Amino acid sequence: MFKTQIVKLLSRKYATKTKIAVSKPIVEIDGDEMTKIIFAEIKNKLILPFVELGRDYYDCSLPNRNATKNQVSKDAAEAILRHNVGIKCSTITPDEERVKEFNLTQMWPSPNGMIRNALNGTQFRESIICRNVNKYVRGWTKPIIMGRHTFGDQYGGKDLTIEKPSKIYLTVKTGDHEEKFEIFDYKNRGVAMVTFNTEDSIRNFATSCFRMALERQFPVYFATKSTLLKQYDKLFNDVFLEVYEKNFKSKFAQANLTFELRLIDDMAAQAMKSSGGFLWALKSYDGDVLSDVVGQGFGSMGLMIHSLISHDGRTIMTEPAHGTVTRHFREYQKGVKVSTNPISSIFAWTRGLQHRAKLDNNPDLGSFAQTLEKSTISTVEEGLVTKDLAPCVFGTEFREDQYLGTSEFIDKVAQKLGKLV
Ligand SMILES: NC(=O)c1ccc[n+]([C@@H]2O[C@H](COP(=O)([O-])OP(=O)(O)OC[C@H]3O[C@@H](n4cnc5c(N)ncnc54)[C@H](O)[C@@H]3O)[C@@H](O)[C@H]2O)c1
Repeated sequence: MFKTQIVKLLSRKYATKTKIAVSKPIVEIDGDEMTKIIFAEIKNKLILPFVELGRDYYDCSLPNRNATKNQVSKDAAEAILRHNVGIKCSTITPDEERVKEFNLTQMWPSPNGMIRNALNGTQFRESIICRNVNKYVRGWTKPIIMGRHTFGDQYGGKDLTIEKPSKIYLTVKTGDHEEKFEIFDYKNRGVAMVTFNTEDSIRNFATSCFRMALERQFPVYFATKSTLLKQYDKLFNDVFLEVYEKNFKSKFAQANLTFELRLIDDMAAQAMKSSGGFLWALKSYDGDVLSDVVGQGFGSMGLMIHSLISHDGRTIMTEPAHGTVTRHFREYQKGVKVSTNPISSIFAWTRGLQHRAKLDNNPDLGSFAQTLEKSTISTVEEGLVTKDLAPCVFGTEFREDQYLGTSEFIDKVAQKLGKLV
């Protein structure tokens, strides 16, 4: 306790008059539409008045990705690897309509894929629990951390349409040797898909999940359909078991934590009946779908924390769990007051700052980030919420005067924060 106080006093010495000093920068990745507006407000009202923060800034908004031929996404990914902390705003993944809207020279991919590949990390999602937000799944009183593998499977695979009666084969070429497997004999039009994964990336994923579970003191369940995919999912299971036995079993035993391999259908049913309080590790597609189910089950997608952590635990990218909220942005452009929930974006900032604090051993910064999180949660718990949370707090018959606009909500959090730091 006394030691912590001394550390605080010493680090305060380096702070400007009132702001918390941070010796190393974070990488700030700007984005698009409503989330871009929210990010700017959070930065200007909740972060920069309190923290002297160096920011290595990359504008990954769609117009700038187009202007730089997407070089900016590459630069941003490299900067995250250099500085170890990236805080990213949501960005548009263009489709044909967006190509026309922004007069794009190409259908540039989302920067997320590039950053994911650079970090080779695990995506964790977790719901923020506020006492007054009624959950759709009432029994969930403790958080569920969703760990999603982010390499290969459907996201790196190849899918195609078979137009006419055809046969498809899978060929495995090893040196000069080829082995050919007949997959299907099409009598008519159909589709096909090939997916892949690697033992190394599964090993990294398993390590990240066990490390996160130890940090948070949660048991781990890894769920697959290994009864169906007897080779594919079996490799995932075997690697999880190997990593656990070799590196984590004794640490888990000391912490009184458990690890289980589960069948995904059995686990989905079990999760619904549980009170939460576990880390649920999933393959990429399953994690994509089930983390939205779990997010909504806790009340709102606006209450989700999202981070991508490298397997050595050193590098993190945080971002809101939602997109650029185009529908609200269209209203904003017309000058209509919007009520978009900024909480997931606030937590993208706090979790990024907490990681900076941990790496730099900066307890002032860590406790500032925690205070900002508490200020946000207690604002909601006082019944001050954005429109998406109004039905969860006041019921579906809520009135218009029962919710705040985005800026009003951020102002309420800023007032509370100002009194606490
Ligand atoms: N990680 C990312 O950068 C990311 C992720 C998803 C979508 N996107 C992009 O975002 C754009 C819009 O996509 P979308 O409309 O499918 O998804 P979205 O998450 O932006 O919004 C979908 C709907 O969910 C609700 N919603 C989402 N966030 C909310 C919030 N904070 N407060 C209140 N309500 C909220 C709104 O009703 C909204 O219309 C697309 O261009 C897409 O490519 C980016």
